[in-house]
Amino acid sequence: MNVLVVGGGGREHAICWALSKSPRVDKLYCAPGNGGIAAIAECVDIKATDIDGIVRFAKSNPVDFVMVAPDDPLALGLVDALEAAGIRTFGPRKNAAIIESSKAFSKGLMHKYGIPTAEYRIFWDMGRAVDYIRQKGAPIVVKADGLALGKGVVVAMDEETAIDAVREMMLDKKFGASGDTVVIEEYMEGPEVTVLAFTDGKTIVPMLSSQDHKRAYDGDKGPNTGGMGVIVPSPHYTPEIAEICMKTIFRPTLEALNKEGRLFKGVIYFGLMLTAKGPRVVEYNARFGDPETQPILSLLGTDLMDIFEAVADERLEGLDIRFKPGAACCVVLASGGYPGSYEKGFEITGLDKVPGDITVFHAGTRFEGGKYLTNGGRVLGVTATAETLDAAIRRAYEGVGHINFQGMHYRKDIGRK
Ligand code: AMP
Ligand code: GLY
Repeated sequence: MNVLVVGGGGREHAICWALSKSPRVDKLYCAPGNGGIAAIAECVDIKATDIDGIVRFAKSNPVDFVMVAPDDPLALGLVDALEAAGIRTFGPRKNAAIIESSKAFSKGLMHKYGIPTAEYRIFWDMGRAVDYIRQKGAPIVVKADGLALGKGVVVAMDEETAIDAVREMMLDKKFGASGDTVVIEEYMEGPEVTVLAFTDGKTIVPMLSSQDHKRAYDGDKGPNTGGMGVIVPSPHYTPEIAEICMKTIFRPTLEALNKEGRLFKGVIYFGLMLTAKGPRVVEYNARFGDPETQPILSLLGTDLMDIFEAVADERLEGLDIRFKPGAACCVVLASGGYPGSYEKGFEITGLDKVPGDITVFHAGTRFEGGKYLTNGGRVLGVTATAETLDAAIRRAYEGVGHINFQGMHYRKDIGRK
């Protein structure tokens, strides 16, 4: 069958890489794709958010199945549009993707169904938000309601920082309409763990746990990024905690969505904090994480196409989803300046020196004149698997050691902090 993957980052490279190994996939398209994806799929120059363009392409080419990976086309209703055109699709419809696109919605859902999360209030009025911050005191957390490229959260250690954040979101419109509504919530403490889970609306199957490293520099310093590296599994996520999460968070979330008439088919991303009072939800996303997907799919032992089809056809229950034993580590190589402004177009060298069992997933790259050039903030995700986490980390950094481009920066402490 012929499959179109929508998106063009490291996550989409990992998805294409896993699909390209499936004997059932004949042809892969990726829109818009990137330099690395071009080696295994036909890249089509259509933006992921160009809903009409994607639907038109899927209809006018021999595409049997579409996988929508990024958050914004999901929030814009790409899955609804593809389904309306009669195309089988993996991903939640707009009315279910709202668990990511509106934090006010997801907090309301958790509150209504007793799913453990930080206490919160929602504000549409700046004066009231400021009063609430004064009343509660710091530390306190301010979140823009809508999508904000992962930058709409301010963990404020003092009241002034929290009030500044509210002002920037509500008055200065730093995130546009995404900040018209803000969520202010209780500060939680504890190790953070991410669990991605496949669901067809009836069955929910967690993948291996993971731990992202969101800050730009070693020692968790510097600004927040989309993610600078990941280890799989998280050493904090014990079988006992997994059982609690299944019982108090994963299944209740699915039931809550069903009760609200919002059928969710795709991947739910559970951002969790393991607090002294038990696991709590920090956030939901309606999709695979980036870069979590790169090391997780590296350990997947089941044909990804089989999983995508089982989810689309609502027959996930009968499928045996397996992961290989061991661990994985992904180290992100970023452009100098990221997550702030950076230059693009530098040649990437040494990719051919990386040992074959280490996979370099491309995020922001393009292929031109026989060379790979940098083309984004996060450029590559060097990913290794091994029997132990220590060995996977060592191997990933061994891979990193071969690669270079002007301004390249990366964290040296992935999995070590
Ligand atoms: P989010 O985009 O909601 O995942 O938030 C980004 C980061 O902010 C999370 O990964 C946490 O490190 C932090 N964060 C979010 N909510 C809270 C909270 N209630 N208490 C403490 N830290 C938080
Ligand atoms: N790595 C965080 C995310 O995908 O949202």
